[in-house]
Amino acid sequence: PIKYLKDEEGESMRVLDIDGYYLPTFDKIIPNQEEEVRSIRTWKAKDDDVLLCAYPKSGTHWLWEVASMLLNGSADRINLNKASAMLELIPQPMYEDIQSPRVLNSHIYFRMLPEDFVKRKCKIVYILRNPKDVAVSFFNHHFKVLEYEYSGKWENYIHRFLTGQVDYGSWFDYTLDWEKVIQDNPDYPIHIISYEDMKKDGTKEIKQLAQFLGVKADEELIKCIAGACDFERMKKEKNLLDIATADEWRDKELGIYRKGQVGDWKNWFTVAQNELFDTVYAERMKNSKFQFRCMV
Ligand code: A3P
Repeated sequence: PIKYLKDEEGESMRVLDIDGYYLPTFDKIIPNQEEEVRSIRTWKAKDDDVLLCAYPKSGTHWLWEVASMLLNGSADRINLNKASAMLELIPQPMYEDIQSPRVLNSHIYFRMLPEDFVKRKCKIVYILRNPKDVAVSFFNHHFKVLEYEYSGKWENYIHRFLTGQVDYGSWFDYTLDWEKVIQDNPDYPIHIISYEDMKKDGTKEIKQLAQFLGVKADEELIKCIAGACDFERMKKEKNLLDIATADEWRDKELGIYRKGQVGDWKNWFTVAQNELFDTVYAERMKNSKFQFRCMV
């Protein structure tokens, strides 16, 4: 059912509640969204499926574009529409109709993925991003996407983020779960990529991704893909392609391509918010080996 996640300040956020697990609502587009999501475990996979997994706002659209171009062997943007490939936000027939090799993406836990997908050991690309930048990006997302009916303030948001009162729940739970999955399944093909490394040396990361995907990509193609997926170009060109979805955004302003920077959190966090975040992070992540750049 639809649930309004309320906090102490009385601010609320509209989500879909599936047995205490929260998802963005897509009921206006998929009326039986809950039923669809509950059936995902039984969906059939294809051997050459690739799945991008990440907590929201970690760079999923970016990596989807890069991976799709690599598998397409071209830096051409035509016919690439990310919105049609989010596992938990599409109905099964649409999922089955996507052309292979399919690049799918998802923010759900490993244990919720289609069983067939895991049985076939379909490749997974796991994307990490500094959680402080994720928090800022997610706040902007929640504020701008009308489906959430959220008009909260940033000063109250940190608490909401740290306690996981958002769709997909806690960043900490999600990230720790994936770390455990990666540790416990050394034979499963999972490639880890970070937003910060992509920003620092995209060409190097795209090359490594090509290798993982088993794609032969020459220097020229890698360079073209890096260029086509540069933030400013993606913002301009993707927003043009996505213009039909403007009604879903506050003031009709498309918001996926917001700032595209590392460390924007420094423009948002107060000293007190930063201290609180660091304290919770230190406690929750004390046994984690994942390294997040710019946590300091
Ligand atoms: P910001 O809000 O910090 O700008 P997702 O795709 O997982 O929803 O993540 C969205 C975040 O990735 C946004 O972060 C967005 O601007 C950023 N992003 C999208 N495309 C990008 C690109 N080509 N280069 C860098 N950042 C990008």
